[in-house]
Amino acid sequence: MSAFSIPSSDTEHFDFSTAIDRQHTFSNKWERYARQNAIPMWVADMDLASPPGVKAALKAAAERGIFGYGTITEALIDAFIQWAAEQYQWTIDPQWLVWIPGVVPGFNFAVEALTQPEDTLIHQSPVYPPIFNLARTRGRPTLDILLTEPAHNDSENTGWGLSIAELGAAVTPDAKALILCNPQNPTGRVYSRDELKQLGDIAERHDLTIISDEIWADLIIDPQTQHTPIASLSPELAARTITLMAPSKTFNIAGLSCSVAIIPDPERRRLFQQQLRGLTPDMNYLGLIAAHAAWTTGAPWLKALRQHIRQNFDQLEVWLNERPRIGYRRPEATFLAWLDVRAYGLENPAQTLLDAGVAVSDGRDFGAPGFIRVNLGCPEAQLQAALTAMAKVLD
Ligand SMILES: Cc1ncc(COP(=O)(O)O)c(C=O)c1O
Repeated sequence: MSAFSIPSSDTEHFDFSTAIDRQHTFSNKWERYARQNAIPMWVADMDLASPPGVKAALKAAAERGIFGYGTITEALIDAFIQWAAEQYQWTIDPQWLVWIPGVVPGFNFAVEALTQPEDTLIHQSPVYPPIFNLARTRGRPTLDILLTEPAHNDSENTGWGLSIAELGAAVTPDAKALILCNPQNPTGRVYSRDELKQLGDIAERHDLTIISDEIWADLIIDPQTQHTPIASLSPELAARTITLMAPSKTFNIAGLSCSVAIIPDPERRRLFQQQLRGLTPDMNYLGLIAAHAAWTTGAPWLKALRQHIRQNFDQLEVWLNERPRIGYRRPEATFLAWLDVRAYGLENPAQTLLDAGVAVSDGRDFGAPGFIRVNLGCPEAQLQAALTAMAKVLD
């Protein structure tokens, strides 16, 4: 565990410390547990303002005061393609892009488009609940290969793993799609090129479509780590992959519904587009404006945000150092801490913490009872208040 970081001058240009009152603003995060008066550290949006360029573009739109239908423009496509080239060294052909209102609808549509009701879907848990529940939601059989759990607080090994050998051995002939979450929610793992290549080999051997949720690709917080889109590894892998990305987690604009599917294979793209027809609304007008502003002006803010998130993890780790019973690995990405509190023997840790005044995400929803997920995308003072309340339960 690392010590406090020295505040970087980067973070001083942007305000990540002033509390912004989100009560009574139609915020899911703040409404759900308002009656309990609990500090909301659950759903993955941040209590931090979006980049100044995004706020300015939305203010200008609000001033115009007209909110008619939007359309995808070359400027938006260029902004995303340039962002992907700079951030992940991935060269994207504009024809591959299909714009969608959300990543969750994206993987649901992908399943409908590319599998039949009898086809098995493979996922690996613990994982983001809409992925954990995807096969059930879509009425498909499911094969859940558990991620390999790291040894308790052993900082030497690589952390949560893809269980490649188990996965390779378990794939059944009726399996048709593999749902990948990378960077991984909730563990914060960012899979290496080598791990992704091994996963890709399995997909090729068994002719699986890969549905790759890479919504967290920009929020790499470990300076040694780089995000690799699995589709960027080879033309063969690109052809069998639907990659889902968005500016929503990165720039805190999840309420504006703007995401993108990258589908290099024309036939898979055609089937996906056919599914969307008539069932998805037009892209949210303000979402298009925000996404364009984020990708064209947001890079310096993102650099500073990463530093702020690292500092919050430093604070968490000071607290955790006094609580060795809690299992924890510093994530390589995301602003989410995945904590193993099984040693406390609590029947329902999330409920017990809620009763103590903090709303966290319940590990059971991710397929991992006894774990909790804590959202660190907030000012430091909010994190400290949450940790003080959590200490009443996890002493
Ligand atoms: C892995 C993952 N995928 C998708 C989403 C949400 O996607 P969207 O809001 O675009 O549907 C989240 C939100 O936390 C997530 O963590």
